[in-house]
Amino acid sequence: MRSGTPRRRNKAARPLSLVLALVLLGSLYAALMPSAQVAADTGTSAQVAEGKALFQVTCSSCHGLNGEGTSQGPSLIGVGAASVDFQVSTGRMPMARPGEQAPRKVNTYTAEEIGKLSAYVASLGPGPAVPKSSQYDYSTLTDEQIARGGELFRTNCSACHQAAANGGALPNGKYAPSLHGVEPLHIYEAVRTGPQQMPVFAEGAIPDEDLASIIGYLKGIEDQPSAGFSLGGLGPVTEGLFGWIIGIGGLCLFAVWITSRGARAK
Ligand code: HEC
Ligand code: HEC
Repeated sequence: MRSGTPRRRNKAARPLSLVLALVLLGSLYAALMPSAQVAADTGTSAQVAEGKALFQVTCSSCHGLNGEGTSQGPSLIGVGAASVDFQVSTGRMPMARPGEQAPRKVNTYTAEEIGKLSAYVASLGPGPAVPKSSQYDYSTLTDEQIARGGELFRTNCSACHQAAANGGALPNGKYAPSLHGVEPLHIYEAVRTGPQQMPVFAEGAIPDEDLASIIGYLKGIEDQPSAGFSLGGLGPVTEGLFGWIIGIGGLCLFAVWITSRGARAK
């Protein structure tokens, strides 16, 4: 009798807790999501204030207490939320020390903190906003659009990033990085904000549809090479190794076959 009770309770409790969990999840979603979206778009005053506090701790030594810039770093007035999101998410900022070029590093900030920093910098002056995912979505592109993205890439970007987007050296010890593995969001933001030597391409120069095509093209060539390249990319070494293993292996098998035939013939 005792062992039966908990079992019966369990049977009823399972669907009930499932329903409860669903209701909780639903209301949590409802409570959190819309406010997060609004905040990401406009930046609430609380977010701006918290962003300012964070900024003054980690960024102001180079960018000034109010983002006005110092001899160590440029003014951030008018660079926009997209620039902060790009620079901090890719680990370029905060820069460890002023140098030739801020390299990509592991980002140590949470999305929430980056949102606050972005909201604060956006409040200093109008600049490019962090895009919505629909602006850089490349999943529905046709082959034609992707081919056009390739053309646009060759005209606008390959001079620095090279035709296969593997990156290349620039004058004065600077470089344009490889674009393989860069998130679509960060490609969008880099194009709109022009980090360092890179020019800004505004909507007038490259509209959103064209930018999505470029992103689609970049993601396409990223997938492609791995199939053909793994052998060809290492060139003669891999091919030599292949030849060695198959060639010598084949010869050994042949030798074994010959000897076994010879043995049988005797
Ligand atoms: C050690 C100095 C230093 C620190 C600390 C630093 N920055 Fe920077 N920052 C720079 C320099 C120098 C540049 C310009 C050169 C570059 O982009 O590499 C720059 C560029 C930027 C840009 C690009 C501006 C543009 O024109 O689009 C943004 C945005 C930015 N920093 C944000 C931040 C934020 C946010 C923090 C704090 C989390 C931070 N930085 C901390 C030195 C610094
Ligand atoms: C004049 C040279 C130049 C041109 C033209 C140029 N870029 Fe760049 N690009 C750079 C440099 C330099 C950087 C590195 C900036 C930094 O590290 O702060 C960069 C960075 C980037 C990044 C960031 C990569 C990362 O690792 O986070 C992306 C994405 C990018 N470029 C895409 C493009 C696209 C797409 C185009 C064409 C529409 C383009 N670039 C045109 C020089 C250029």
